[in-house]
Amino acid sequence: MENVEQQSIGLIEALHSTPARRYLSDSPIDDEILWEILDAAIRGPSGGNSQGWAWLVVKDQAVKNQISEWYREGWNQAYGVRRSKILEGEDAADTLGPKNYLSAEHLANHIQEAPIWIFAIQRNTASSTSPRAGSSIYGAVQHLMLAARAHGIGATLTTLYAGHEGDVKQLLGIPEDALTMALIPLGYPDRGRWSQPKRQAVDEVTHWDRWGQQNQR
Ligand SMILES: Cc1cc2nc3c(=O)[nH]c(=O)nc-3n(C[C@H](O)[C@H](O)[C@H](O)COP(=O)(O)O)c2cc1C
Repeated sequence: MENVEQQSIGLIEALHSTPARRYLSDSPIDDEILWEILDAAIRGPSGGNSQGWAWLVVKDQAVKNQISEWYREGWNQAYGVRRSKILEGEDAADTLGPKNYLSAEHLANHIQEAPIWIFAIQRNTASSTSPRAGSSIYGAVQHLMLAARAHGIGATLTTLYAGHEGDVKQLLGIPEDALTMALIPLGYPDRGRWSQPKRQAVDEVTHWDRWGQQNQR
């Protein structure tokens, strides 16, 4: 397990060094630390400061085991069936790449071992047709993952359980009107580094004044 001391780094450095961390140890996370992470998450933005969120912390192993089965089902449908093509670089639709595929596969097989799971839940969304239904919680989810990173705790925003959204809601007693927007497994990283995530270059994805006007800098 990597050094778990609180990491004192600048905000910009943290933004540049917080990839998805999917190799997690099962070492427990202190409740005080968990509380601090949640207290940072709820500082995130929501439309009109509506704060229509709820954070459901799961420690119950039986619950994690059940939902991890549903997660693996989602993994197999979306990615498992394309395994050899992705690993051989022959899947034109793949955006993960072999290294991230293997880390995501590892998480799929071990997600139930992460000591803490947090479901990010948004109220009054179950019958929403808004394409922006999740926009009032994902900022807070990112706060949560950055606060975890400040404590040396790794996280990944996941959704592959969502083929069983109704089952998850029933198992956890989540109100009808709500939807889970993400499951964030948390744990101290076992492998990997706080490295800069690879992305398309800024100039390739930025437009100035009008769509298509690029490379203005
Ligand atoms: C909406 C959404 C859903 C995601 N679902 C999953 C998931 O179910 N499982 C997983 O391992 N990663 C999931 N991810 C994480 C992405 O794969 C990750 O953010 C992306 O590959 C970039 O990773 P990096 O920051 O390490 O480069 C999801 C991310 C988002 C934003």
